[in-house]
Amino acid sequence: MKQWYRIEGGKPLEGAVTISGAKNAAVAIIPASILTGECCVLENIPCIEDVHTLLEILKRIGGAVSYTMGERLRLDSSGVNSCSITFDMVSTLRASYYLLGALLGRYGHAELSLPGGCVIGQRPIDQHIKGMRALGAHVVVEDGLVKARADNGLVGSEVYFDVVSVGATINVMMAATMAAGQTTLVNAAKEPHVVDVANFLNMMGARVKGAGTDMIRITGVSKLHGCDYAIIPDQIEAGTYMVAAAATGGNVVIKNIIPTHLEAISAKLMESGAAVVEGDDGREFFMQVTGGGRPRAINVKTLPYPGFPTDLQQPMMAHLVKAHGNSFIMENIFEERFNHVAELVRMGALIDLNGRTAMVQGVERLTGAPLFASDLRAGAALVVAALAAKGTSTVHNIELIDRGYEHLEQKLRALGANITRHVE
Ligand code: UD1
Repeated sequence: MKQWYRIEGGKPLEGAVTISGAKNAAVAIIPASILTGECCVLENIPCIEDVHTLLEILKRIGGAVSYTMGERLRLDSSGVNSCSITFDMVSTLRASYYLLGALLGRYGHAELSLPGGCVIGQRPIDQHIKGMRALGAHVVVEDGLVKARADNGLVGSEVYFDVVSVGATINVMMAATMAAGQTTLVNAAKEPHVVDVANFLNMMGARVKGAGTDMIRITGVSKLHGCDYAIIPDQIEAGTYMVAAAATGGNVVIKNIIPTHLEAISAKLMESGAAVVEGDDGREFFMQVTGGGRPRAINVKTLPYPGFPTDLQQPMMAHLVKAHGNSFIMENIFEERFNHVAELVRMGALIDLNGRTAMVQGVERLTGAPLFASDLRAGAALVVAALAAKGTSTVHNIELIDRGYEHLEQKLRALGANITRHVE
C-alpha cells in the first residue's frame, strides 16, 4: 500500500510539541538487551517503524516482547535461540548491525545479513569488523553475510577507529562488555546516543567509562543483569521541529529535550536570524524557536558530534533555500546525502551541487509540488519545505519517514499544519 502526505503550505507552525525517545538510542539499546539473559524494561521508546522491525527480529530469534503500563517496553531475551539474522529481517534496517555485537558478545558467534537502511552513500562496516577482530573474533564476509565467531570467548584489546563511526563505536562497546579484560576504544564517536547506550550497559552491570569522549574504556564482566531504563529524547526529531518552526516563520515550544544536545542546531538557526530561547519550567527543559521573515544565508558543515549533525543537513537546507543570499552546505559524513536537492529544485529552489558542497542561492518563495522522499531525513526535509512553500505539495514514499518520526503528522497538525496522510 502506497502512502503519501498532502501538505498545504504557507502556515506558520504555532504551539508546543513533545519530543519522543531517541531513535538512534532505541535501535541500539533494544539489541543490547540481548546481552543479558534477563528482562529489561525500557521507557520512552519511540513508536517508529525501525523499532517495530527490531522487535519483530527479536521475537523471531526467540526473545519475548510486551508492553507494560502503557508505553513501557518489556524485553526478555532469555529465550533467544538463534544467532542467525537473515536478509528478510534486516533489508530496511541499517541499525541491524548492532545485533552482531550483541549476539557475539553474549553467545560468541553471530551471522548477520549485511544491513539495508537509507541510501546516502557507501556505508561500509569495516570499522565494526575491525573492532570485532581486535577482540579476537574470526570474522568473514561471504554470501552477503557477516559471520563472526569467537569460540574461546572475546578478549579485551585496544581498538583504534580509522573514522569516527557511531555504529562501530556502539557495536564494539557492546561486544566488549563481556570480553575478558579491558578494551579501549580510541577515536570513538561522542554522540548523545553513544552515551545513552553506555549508560544502559552500565545499568545492566557493565563497566564502561569515558563515553562522550573520544576514548572509551570497558572492563569486561562475566554476566549482565536486567534493568529498567529511560531512553533520552531524540536530538534529531527536536532539531527537525526547530528547523520547521524557523522555516515557516512560526513560534514553537519544543518539550522533552536535552538542551546541550541541540547547541549546534540552535547556533546555526540563530545565525540564520531565528530567535532560539532555552527555558526550564521547573519540571523540564524546553526550547522556543521563533522564525521571522526570510532567513540570512549561512554556511553549514556537517561533523561528528558536537558538530552540526548530518541528519539535519537536509532539513536545514529546506530552510535555507529561502534565505537572502548564498548559503554553502558541506556534507562531510555521507558522500551521497543530496538526494533531496532535485526535489527542492522542483519547488523553485536554486541549488548547485559540486561534490560534497551544495551552494544554495536563496529565492523569495517555494511553490508546492509532488515530491519523492529518497531516505528518512530527505523525507523530513521535504516535509519542512512543503510546510514553508506556497500551495499544495504531496510527499511520497513516506514509509521512509515512518522509520524514524513518531506520529509526525499528528504532531504537526497540533502545531496548526495542514497535513494529511493518504493511503492508496
Ligand atoms: C549513525 C546514525 C545515523 C547518522 C550517522 C552519523 C544510527 C542508527 N544511525 O549511522 O542516523 O547519520 O550515525 O551521525 O545511529 N564508516 C566507515 N566504516 C564503518 C562505519 C562507518 O567508513 O565501518 C563511515 C561511514 O561511511 C560514514 C562515517 O563513517 O562516512 C560515519 O558513519 P557512522 O557514524 O558509522 O554512521 P552510522 O552508524 O551508519
